[in-house]
Amino acid sequence: MNSSLYINLLKKVLIDYHRMELGEYKPVYFTHPSLKSKVFIAFDNYLRSRNLAVCKVVKFKKEERINGVDWPAYADSMVGMKRIDNIEFCFREVIKNNVPGDFIETGVWRGGSVIFMKALLKDAGINNRVVWVADSFEGLPKPNDEKYEADKGDIHYIFKELAIPLETVKYNFSKYDLLDDNVKFLKGWFKDTLPVAPINKLAILRLDGDMYESTMDGLVNLYSKLSVGGFIIIDDWGVVEACKKAVIDFRTKHNITEEIVTIDQAGVYWRKEKQI
Ligand SMILES: C[S@@+](CC[C@H](N)C(=O)[O-])C[C@H]1O[C@@H](n2cnc3c(N)ncnc32)[C@H](O)[C@@H]1O
Repeated sequence: MNSSLYINLLKKVLIDYHRMELGEYKPVYFTHPSLKSKVFIAFDNYLRSRNLAVCKVVKFKKEERINGVDWPAYADSMVGMKRIDNIEFCFREVIKNNVPGDFIETGVWRGGSVIFMKALLKDAGINNRVVWVADSFEGLPKPNDEKYEADKGDIHYIFKELAIPLETVKYNFSKYDLLDDNVKFLKGWFKDTLPVAPINKLAILRLDGDMYESTMDGLVNLYSKLSVGGFIIIDDWGVVEACKKAVIDFRTKHNITEEIVTIDQAGVYWRKEKQI
C-alpha cells in the first residue's frame, strides 16, 4: 500500500505500536475474555463483584499487538497492525473503484478504528462521506438468552474497560483534529439505533460488537445498505464463537457466497458482489 508518512505514523499511534520498543513490560494489558480460562474468569468475577481492582503487570507481547488479541491499556483501538492495515486497504479499494457510501463501525470502544477512517478521508481531501460511530458508550448489553441462545453465559457486559463514554470518544477524535460535522454518533443499543439510523448507503461496514446479538443487529440493519463493491469487516470472527455463528447464520439465510478473507487471528472481511 502506498501510505503517506502521516497515515503510517497515525496507525502506530492509534494502536500503541509506537511504544513497542520502549520497554519490555507495560502495565494492565488485558487479554480478550475468550482467551481466558474458566478458572480465571471465575476469579476475575469474584474480585470485580467485591470492587477489588485487578491490576496486572504483564509482558508486552509484540505478537498480540500485531494481531490485536489483547485489550491494550493505552491504545485508542484494540485492533492490531494487520486489522488497521485492512481498514486502509478497504478504503483505498473503495476510493479507487468509486464505490458510493459512508463508513460505519458498530462497536467503537475508544474510537481508534473510526478515527482512522476519518483520517484516511481527510488525508485524501474527501469530505462528502460520513463516518458513523455506533455504540452504547456504556459497554456491552447483558445477554438476551431467550432470544439469542448463542450469547448464553456471555460475560462481556461485566467489563468496565469496555464502557467508554461518548464524550471520551469525541475528545479522542478532537485530539487528532478529526472531529467535524461529517462524523456522526449513534448512541444507544444497536437494536434501537441501527433500525432508524438515517444512513442511505455504506461503502465500509465494520462490525465489532463481539456478541451474537450485536453482530446480528449490524448485519440485519446495515448489510442491505452496503454498496456492491463495498466491504464488510467482521472484527471478532476468529475469537468469539457467537459472533462467527451470527455471520454464518446470516450468510446462510441470505445465500451470501462471497469468499471470506482472513485478516489475522480474529478479523475477516469480504467484498460484497451482489445485493441481497
Ligand atoms: C471490542 S469493543 C470495540 C473495539 C473497537 N472497534 C476498536 O477499534 O478498538 C466493543 C464495543 O462494542 C460496543 N457494543 C457491543 N455490543 C453493543 C450493542 N448491542 N449496542 C451498542 N454497543 C455495543 C461496546 O460498548 C464496545 O464499545
